[in-house]
Amino acid sequence: MKILFATSEAHPLIKTGGLADVSGSLPNALAVLKHKIRLVLPAYRAIMDKLPPGVMLKKMAEISVQGCGREFTAKVLQLKAGAVPGIDVPVWLVSIPDLFDRAGNPYLAADGSDWWDNGERFAMFSKVVTELAMNRLGLKWQPDVVHTNDWQTGLVPALLSLEAQRPKTVFTVHNMAYPGNFPRSLFEQLKLPWALWESEGVEFWGHFSMLKAGLIKADQVTTVSPTYAKEICYPEFAYGFEGVLQKRQAEGRLVGIINGIDKTVWNPERDALIAVHYSAQKGRLAGKRANKKSLLSDLCRLRGETEKRSNDRMLDCLDKPLIGLVGRLVEQKGIDLVLEILPELIEQTHANFVIVGAGDKVYEVQVKALAQKYPNRIWAFMGYSESLAHRVEAGADMFLMPSRFEPCGLNQMYSLVYGTPPIVFHTGGLADTVVNATEEHIKQGVATGFVFYDPSRQALKSTVLHALHLFTKKGIWQTIQKTGMVQNFGWEASAKQYVELYLEKR
Ligand code: ADP
Ligand code: GLC
Repeated sequence: MKILFATSEAHPLIKTGGLADVSGSLPNALAVLKHKIRLVLPAYRAIMDKLPPGVMLKKMAEISVQGCGREFTAKVLQLKAGAVPGIDVPVWLVSIPDLFDRAGNPYLAADGSDWWDNGERFAMFSKVVTELAMNRLGLKWQPDVVHTNDWQTGLVPALLSLEAQRPKTVFTVHNMAYPGNFPRSLFEQLKLPWALWESEGVEFWGHFSMLKAGLIKADQVTTVSPTYAKEICYPEFAYGFEGVLQKRQAEGRLVGIINGIDKTVWNPERDALIAVHYSAQKGRLAGKRANKKSLLSDLCRLRGETEKRSNDRMLDCLDKPLIGLVGRLVEQKGIDLVLEILPELIEQTHANFVIVGAGDKVYEVQVKALAQKYPNRIWAFMGYSESLAHRVEAGADMFLMPSRFEPCGLNQMYSLVYGTPPIVFHTGGLADTVVNATEEHIKQGVATGFVFYDPSRQALKSTVLHALHLFTKKGIWQTIQKTGMVQNFGWEASAKQYVELYLEKR
C-alpha cells in the first residue's frame, strides 16, 4: 500500500511532544511491513536549520494556494529516506516561507502565545497535502491511504471528502483538548467550499473547527489508546465533540490503537544520551545506580554548584529515592496536584525530586519557587532538553505522571522500560499500560507501577507514599522494575492494527 502520513511534527526533525515521537516512528514501522510511505510536514525553519550539512533537498513541485486575501506559493521539497538518521522514509516538506520560516515552536510565538495565523498556516498545509493526496502535483505517486493527525491536518479528510476518486482517509486524534477552533471569518477568507459549512462538517457552534473536520469526515477515526477511545465518547473528555464521537463509534469507525515506542531511541541497552547502558537481564542495578550518579552530579553542575559540592550532594542523595517528572507543564499533566503535595512530601519523606518541563508560565514559576525553597531536595529544569529527558528516565527511581487525562502517554512506557516504575492516574493510555502494584498483582508477578483512581492530591500523595514504602522492600521493588522492563511496547502489533484498518472498506 502507498500511505501518505501527514503531521505537524516528527522526531527527530521537529518535536514539542508525543505526536513527534509517534510520527517519527510509526511510518518507519509501516515501512518495515513493506508499505510505501511518504511523511509530509511543514518546512519549519527549525527543520531546515537542523538538516545535517550536505543534505540535499529536491524540489518536487510548486503550486499556488489561496490564503486569507493572498495567494501563497508552496513548494514541495523532498528529503531522501535515511538522509536524517531515524527517519527511514522519504519526507516531503511543504515550504511556504511566509508561514513556516520563523523562529520558535511550530505552534507558539516566543512569548508562549499561539501564532496569530495558526488557522491559516495549517489550512494552507492541509490544502497542499490534499493536492498531494490527489496526485495533482505531478509527483506520480498516488497514495491509497492518507493518514492525518490532530487538528493541524483535520481539513485534509474534509477536503478529500468532496473528491469523487480519492484515497481512503484516516484521522488520528492525539489529544481532544486541542480543537483547532477558529472564527467563521477564517473559513470565509480561505474560500473553503461552502459544502463543508454544515453541522455534519466543519461548523462547530458557529465556529470553524479543524478538529471536527477530521473527526466527522475521515473514513476512519482512531485515537491512541483503547481506554481513551471510550472516554472521548463522554462529555468530560470530549469538549463538546461527544455527539460526533458517539456517532463515529456507533458506525464502528472509532478505534483506539495504543502507541508504540521507538526502541532505537528509547532503549536503555543502546540509548546514546545516558551514561551507562543496562537491561532487565544485564547490569540493571549497577546501571541504574551509575545513571543516577551521573544525573545527580549533572543537575548540581547545571545549577552552577562547585565540583566538590556537586559530589557531596550526589553522595548524599544516591541512596535516597529520586522521583522524576518530565513533561509539558499544563493542567492535563496534573502538575498542579504535584505542586500541592511537594512541600508535604519534602517534609515527611526522604525523597528527592527532579522536574524537567516547559509549558504554562504560572506552573514554571511555581516549580522554580519550590526548587529555590528546597534547593537540597528539588532540581528543576524549566525548558526543553531531550538529553535530560532520557537521563531522568534512566537515573530516577520512579517516574511521576499524574495526568488528569492522557490519550496515550509515552513517558510512562519509557519509564517502564528504563526500570523506573511510574506513578500514574487511572486514565487513557496510562490505564492501558501500567499494572498497579496491589498485593495481588505483586503476588502474580504482573505489577509494573503505581496507579491512583481519584484525581485528587490525597490519592496522589498516598500512592507516592505507597511507592516509597515498596522502594524499601528491595525484592519486591526489583520484581516490579524487571516486570516493567520486559514489557513489549514496540510498534509491531500497533502498526499491524493500522494496516488492517487501512485495508478495511471505506
Ligand atoms: P504529550 O505528547 O502529551 O506531551 P507524551 O508522554 O505522549 O505526552 O510525550 C511527551 C514526549 O515529549 C516525550 O518524548 C517526552 O520525553 C517529551 N518531553 C516533554 N517535555 C519535555 C521537556 N521539557 N524536555 C524534553 N522532552 C520533553
Ligand atoms: C498527545 C497526548 C499523549 C500522546 C501523544 C502521542 O500529545 O497528550 O497522551 O501520547 O499525543 O499520541
